[in-house]
Amino acid sequence: VNAQSLLKDAVSFRLGASVNPRMLVENEAYRNIASNEFTSLTAENHMKMMLIHPAADRFDFTKGDEIVAFAAKTGKRMHGHTLVWHNQVPQWMKDFQGDQKAWEEMLKNHIQAVVTRYKGQVSGWDVVNESFLDDGSLRPSLWADHIPDYIAKSFQWAHEADPNALLFYNDYGQDGHPKKMQAILDLVADLKKRKIPIHGLGLQMHINVDSKRTEIARVIEQSAQTGLVIHFSELDIAVNPKNNPEYIYEANTQNELFQFIFTSFRAIPARQQYGITFWNISDKDTWLRGYFKRPKEYPLLFDETYVKKPGYHSLVNYLQHA
Ligand code: G3I
Repeated sequence: VNAQSLLKDAVSFRLGASVNPRMLVENEAYRNIASNEFTSLTAENHMKMMLIHPAADRFDFTKGDEIVAFAAKTGKRMHGHTLVWHNQVPQWMKDFQGDQKAWEEMLKNHIQAVVTRYKGQVSGWDVVNESFLDDGSLRPSLWADHIPDYIAKSFQWAHEADPNALLFYNDYGQDGHPKKMQAILDLVADLKKRKIPIHGLGLQMHINVDSKRTEIARVIEQSAQTGLVIHFSELDIAVNPKNNPEYIYEANTQNELFQFIFTSFRAIPARQQYGITFWNISDKDTWLRGYFKRPKEYPLLFDETYVKKPGYHSLVNYLQHA
């Protein structure tokens, strides 16, 4: 059913999805979609600190390697996610004792080991993920607590390990939170002024049918004005954000919003278009169902049986005629 991709052929930029290595092995329909429909892949979880660096003296690259091998075999670009985050941090890092210099050594070692492992295979990295709260202040975290200026240092360390990788700052919810957006713009300006290598902005785009288009448009415009490359890095459109148990799927608003998102991306200057990545493959594996326990969510373009939804086809049709 999904042998041929219409969507990836309807766009001139990279189209991606986040994937789970177990599903790539166990589920043929999932694997076929990952293989046929997309031109870029992101590891949903397996390059995060907790999974890739489970003990101070041990990295576990097994699952990351599997995804990278799948990407190489199927001719995909591999996007790296994520080097520094407040979440999914292994216990040994939480327990780490040491002065500032020791913390810096520890984080530098983590970043450079992971980037070096995938040097030449991962095209771009979400170096730092979600560092700001909605009010624009720096999010409290292990890194903020122990390493002054950890964002700039992380970019510098990643760049030393792979000077060819594009380095991204990635975050969510910039629409609806102008102060968070401003904090990101200020960060970019500051890093550029100090000649710290940053090349891209990831706008996660975990949005929902009530998200305001004017806000989204503002965020995209402000992001593009930085001159950095832009990645819609984790796109999904929740249809039942309040988790109504009686909810019956209605796709019109969602479909129009998908069209709006794709149109907005196409309006970004071509040299700044890194691509659009969906977060997960189908409505069956969406994190919104698992993580938030919202069984009646349908945020993607493939249904629970891995069949293209009508929204997939209407998006293709729209892109071909818009
Ligand atoms: O694998 C374990 C399993 O062994 C255990 O029994 C189970 C019990 O909780 O947890 C399983 O791990 C879960 C893991 O996903 C794999 O499914 C974690 O609890 C769960 O926290 C983790 O959630 C991930 C989440 O990041 C963590 O915050 C989601 O899958 C992943 O989609 C999500 O991705 C993030 C991006 O990295 C950053 N942007 C937001 C995005 C959505 O939250």
